[in-house]
Amino acid sequence: MENYEDFFTEVFETATLKGERVTLKGIRETSTGPGSAESIFSAIEGSRDFLKEHLPWIQETDVFDLEKRIRSWVLNERFGQGGCWLIFKNSPDKPEGIFAGSIMMEINIRNHSATLSYWLCKPFTGQGLMTESVKLITKFAFETLKLNRLELLVSVHNGKSAAVAMRCGFMEEGINRDFELINGKFVDHRRFSLLARDVY
Ligand SMILES: CC(C)(COP(=O)(O)OP(=O)(O)OC[C@H]1O[C@@H](n2cnc3c(N)ncnc32)[C@H](O)[C@@H]1OP(=O)(O)O)[C@@H](O)C(=O)NCCC(=O)NCCS
Repeated sequence: MENYEDFFTEVFETATLKGERVTLKGIRETSTGPGSAESIFSAIEGSRDFLKEHLPWIQETDVFDLEKRIRSWVLNERFGQGGCWLIFKNSPDKPEGIFAGSIMMEINIRNHSATLSYWLCKPFTGQGLMTESVKLITKFAFETLKLNRLELLVSVHNGKSAAVAMRCGFMEEGINRDFELINGKFVDHRRFSLLARDVY
């Protein structure tokens, strides 16, 4: 590819990704509906204790903070630096689906790589929804964005998240020491990666 950055800028958008049981929709600034800061906040509120164990920002977040985070993801998308998708569980009764969580991609265009992170509200865990979401994002990243490397960093205490990475074919590379300050403690993280050549 002659100029990857030009190619990437041309094709990158948080396109809607449809799967068998989930649909991923790019986050937008909206004041109504399931994608609004208010309704995401109320979903987080219902799972706050569950989420705060591994996501330090959950502790302090409120609607105003979420609005800022949404704006920042929208700007990241505009500048080709990353994207955030909302995960909706497909439902025969609700055409728009049921909000379940979120998956994020931070992009390093120069290195044709991206780091993924994700969370689910507690009632939507244990069903394979994140595994399907990561597989959808992975396919999009390699086939549409032509990225070369995807990375996932998972706390050594987060076996459920490591299991998602492994189910999606990511390879464990090693430990990033003291990688994240979580609830007042520096926590080591396991680093996983998936390369385009691992899949194709
Ligand atoms: C990390 C997190 C997303 C994992 O959620 P999860 O529900 O375990 O992951 P999945 O949605 O892929 O579901 C897998 C589970 O569903 C089960 N399952 C049921 N049907 C399945 C299917 N069709 N495919 C895959 N798994 C299926 C699996 O057996 C597994 O259950 P188990 O852990 O009891 O064996 C969730 O724990 C979370 O949001 N945690 C808090 C935030 C967080 O830690 N984020 C990650 C930071 S690195």
